[in-house]
Amino acid sequence: MKNRYTPLTLIVAVLVIAAASGFLFAPPAQESPVRVVMDNSGGRVIFSHAKHAEDLGYDCADCHHDNIGQDKPLACATCHPVAFDKKFRSEHQKNFPDKKACLRCHDEVPTGPLAKEDRPDTENIPLLSDAFHKQCMGCHEQDGGPYGADSCYKCHAR
Ligand code: HEC
Ligand code: HEC
Ligand code: HEC
Ligand code: HEC
Ligand code: HEC
Repeated sequence: MKNRYTPLTLIVAVLVIAAASGFLFAPPAQESPVRVVMDNSGGRVIFSHAKHAEDLGYDCADCHHDNIGQDKPLACATCHPVAFDKKFRSEHQKNFPDKKACLRCHDEVPTGPLAKEDRPDTENIPLLSDAFHKQCMGCHEQDGGPYGADSCYKCHAR
C-alpha cells in the first residue's frame, strides 16, 4: 500500500526542487531593451537604450522614475499620454500591473467614477513628447548629448 505514494512523492519532490531552483537562479526580473524605436510626427527617433543604461552607467531610476514595485519599468506613455482625453481616462485604469501605481497620481485607489475635486491635477504631469524632450534634453544639457535649437536631427530621422 505504502508504495503507491512513492511515485507521487517523487514527482512532488522534483517539482519542489525545480520551483526552488527557478526561484533561486532566475534571471533578474528587469530586462532592458537594446534600443527603442519611437515613431512620431517629428521623425523617427532611435534611442540607444543599452548605451545609455549600460555604457554610460546611469541608474534605471535616473530615467524610470516609476519605481512603484512592479517587476519592470513601464512605458512612459502609460502615465504621460498624448492628451488627457477620453481615451486616456478609460485606458490608463487598465494599464498598470499593480493598484499601488494609482497612488502616484490619485490620493487613494479609485474604485468608481470620480468627482471633479478628486481628479488629479494634470497641470504638473507632462504630456508624452514634453516628458521625452524634457528628460532627454535636460540630461544632455547637463551631461553631454544633443539638445537645443539645432539638435533636432541628431535624434530625429529626416
Ligand atoms: C537614459 C534613460 C534611461 C535609462 C538609464 C534606462 N532607461 Fe529603460 N527606457 C528609457 C526610455 C526612454 C524607454 C522607452 C519608453 C517608452 O517607449 O515609453 C525605456 C524603455 C525601457 C523598457 C521597455 C518598457 C516598455 O514596456 O516599453 C524597459 C523594460 C526598460 N526600459 C528597463 C530599464 C532598466 C532595467 C534600466 C536600468 C538597467 C533602464 N531601463 C535604464 C530610458 C532609460
Ligand atoms: C507610473 C507613472 C509614470 C511613468 C511610467 C512615467 N512617469 Fe514621468 N511623471 C509621472 C508623474 C505623475 C509626473 C508628475 C510629477 C511627479 O509626480 O513626479 C511625472 C513627471 C515627469 C517629468 C517632469 C518632472 C521631472 O522629473 O523632470 C518628466 C520629464 C517625466 N515625467 C518623464 C518621464 C519619462 C521619460 C518616462 C519614461 C521613461 C516617465 N516619465 C514615466 C508619472 C510617470
Ligand atoms: C499618471 C497619473 C495617473 C495614474 C498613475 C493613474 N491615474 Fe487615474 N486619472 C489620472 C488623471 C489625470 C485623471 C483625470 C483626467 C481628467 O479628467 O482630467 C484620472 C482619472 C481617473 C478616473 C476617472 C475616469 C473618468 O472617466 O472620469 C478613474 C476611475 C481613475 N483615474 C482610476 C485610476 C486607477 C484605478 C488607477 C490605477 C490602476 C489610476 N487611475 C492611475 C491620472 C492617473
Ligand atoms: C540621464 C542622462 C541622459 C538621458 C535622460 C538621455 N541621454 Fe542621451 N546621452 C547622454 C549622454 C551623457 C550622451 C553623450 C554620450 C557620448 O557622447 O558618448 C548622450 C548621447 C545621446 C545621443 C548621441 C550619441 C548616440 O548615442 O547616438 C543621442 C542620439 C541621444 N543621447 C538620445 C537620447 C534620447 C532620444 C533620450 C531620451 C529618450 C536621451 N538620449 C536621454 C545622457 C542622457
Ligand atoms: C535628445 C533627442 C531629441 C532631440 C534633440 C529632439 N527631439 Fe523631438 N522627440 C524626441 C523623442 C524621444 C520624442 C517622442 C517620441 C514618441 O513620442 O514616441 C520626440 C517627439 C517630437 C515630436 C512629436 C510630438 C508629438 O506629439 O507627436 C516633434 C514634433 C518633435 N519631437 C520635434 C523636435 C524638434 C523641432 C526638435 C529640435 C528643436 C527636437 N524634436 C529635438 C527626441 C528628441
